[in-house]
Amino acid sequence: MSRLLASCACACLLLAGCERHMHDMYRQPRYDRDEASALFPDGRADRPAPAGAVPVAAGTLAATSSGRAGRDLPTQWQVAKDSAQLPAITSTLLARGQERYGIYCLPCHSPVGDGDGPVVRRGFPRPPSYHEQRLRDAPDRHFYDVISKGYGIMHSYGDRVAPADRWAIVAYIRALQLSQNASAAQLPPAVRAKLSDGPGGKR
Ligand code: HEC
Repeated sequence: MSRLLASCACACLLLAGCERHMHDMYRQPRYDRDEASALFPDGRADRPAPAGAVPVAAGTLAATSSGRAGRDLPTQWQVAKDSAQLPAITSTLLARGQERYGIYCLPCHSPVGDGDGPVVRRGFPRPPSYHEQRLRDAPDRHFYDVISKGYGIMHSYGDRVAPADRWAIVAYIRALQLSQNASAAQLPPAVRAKLSDGPGGKR
């Protein structure tokens, strides 16, 4: 019996040592922000940020593509919630949306939004076409959210596309959808006239 007790005590001691060792690994020596150090003449361990520097974990660019969310992310969602609508459509907004779309979305979603972009042609899984009925019926907000948070295997563009630009892209996607699904009645009269006088004759 006493031998059993002794081996139990021994095991406990060993485990305690192990636990302590693990804690040492958790608590490795490191400097925290603004901690004192003799390393630099100003006595601080970290260097002051350059003027105008924005921490990645703050502000509208808080979410990172790796899925780590910045501590200001809830604020960002709130801002997004408060601006839950497309702003008024202007040609400036559409031009900005087209430019940003060309940079961030076109590589997969293609110039017309059918999901046949150059990256997909090289083997990336094909996204659904924006011209599917489901996505034509989806609210503007859905597109905004997909850009902000990602969707399925598509990762978030929240760290690269600021909220105002997300709306500009949504406006441009709406224009793309219209471009592939407009009825003749939706065209301005001058364009409609050209349609019926076109080489194909009256339609
Ligand atoms: C690297 C390729 C890639 C890029 C770049 C990309 N996407 Fe996607 N996107 C995908 C894939 C793949 C899916 C399908 C994801 C899934 O269903 O798992 C998708 C899905 C979507 C959907 C459909 C969501 C639904 O309800 O089915 C929307 C909307 C969308 N992307 C918008 C965008 C916008 C806007 C941009 C640019 C800011 C963008 N994507 C950039 C690959 C990409």
